[in-house]
Amino acid sequence: MGVTNDVFPTARDETPACNKGINEPNDITRTDENDLRNQAYTNPLHMIADWLGFTIFMRQLAPPEPVPFSPSALRGQQLFGTGAGSAGIGCSLCHTPTMVTGPRHETQALQNVQAHLYSDLLIHHMGSGLADNVTQGLAQGDMFRTTPLWGIGQRIFFLHDGRTSDLLVAIQAHASTPGEDDQRGDDDNKYPASEATAVIRKFNVLPSTDKQAILDFLRSL
Ligand code: HEC
Repeated sequence: MGVTNDVFPTARDETPACNKGINEPNDITRTDENDLRNQAYTNPLHMIADWLGFTIFMRQLAPPEPVPFSPSALRGQQLFGTGAGSAGIGCSLCHTPTMVTGPRHETQALQNVQAHLYSDLLIHHMGSGLADNVTQGLAQGDMFRTTPLWGIGQRIFFLHDGRTSDLLVAIQAHASTPGEDDQRGDDDNKYPASEATAVIRKFNVLPSTDKQAILDFLRSL
């Protein structure tokens, strides 16, 4: 959203003049005892930092509800991979179907709750085809966090830059090996192959009814 804060203190604007005279971070946890600097912790307008209010709001939202699975979507769920010994191709190696919230969350209703989020919440090398060359913390320019797939049936644009509204394109964009599968054709040797390459190869050799089954499964989430 372009608002810098305690956890993301420096703006990414490439035009230095744009940042002139603006205090950074823009939004912080206020600790002043008086409001001389408009930073008093007692000022009701910003008793908690905006990012914290936003976080609390997001935490209280209900998760997206999947629709009932058709026979094809059920088949797609198997192929996606739901655990050891399944017939799956391994999408679930990163898109973890279920995680459980911690036992000591400050909100009781959020303790020990199953979340069917389809993400490991980890960052992975995704190859030069997806790389945006933005580094952030320890994440290099080709690394992205596994997007949670819950609610994907209701989304329109996919991948970090919203480059496609075609699920098949989004899946195939996971694979890029240096010199191969590279959609953009530059930076060939700069980044290692995508960690998803082997899984996407398996996807690509599925019969078209099985590919469709995976899409039907995703559309149901
Ligand atoms: C190596 C880990 C990994 C594997 C394996 C993997 N994914 Fe992903 N997936 C990701 C990451 C990381 C992203 C985010 C990429 C980005 O935003 O550019 C992503 C994004 C997606 C998206 C786009 C979601 C959105 O809302 O933008 C879809 C759809 C998806 N994956 C489906 C699949 C399917 C289907 C498979 C199996 C064929 C699969 N993935 C295998 C890591 C993985």
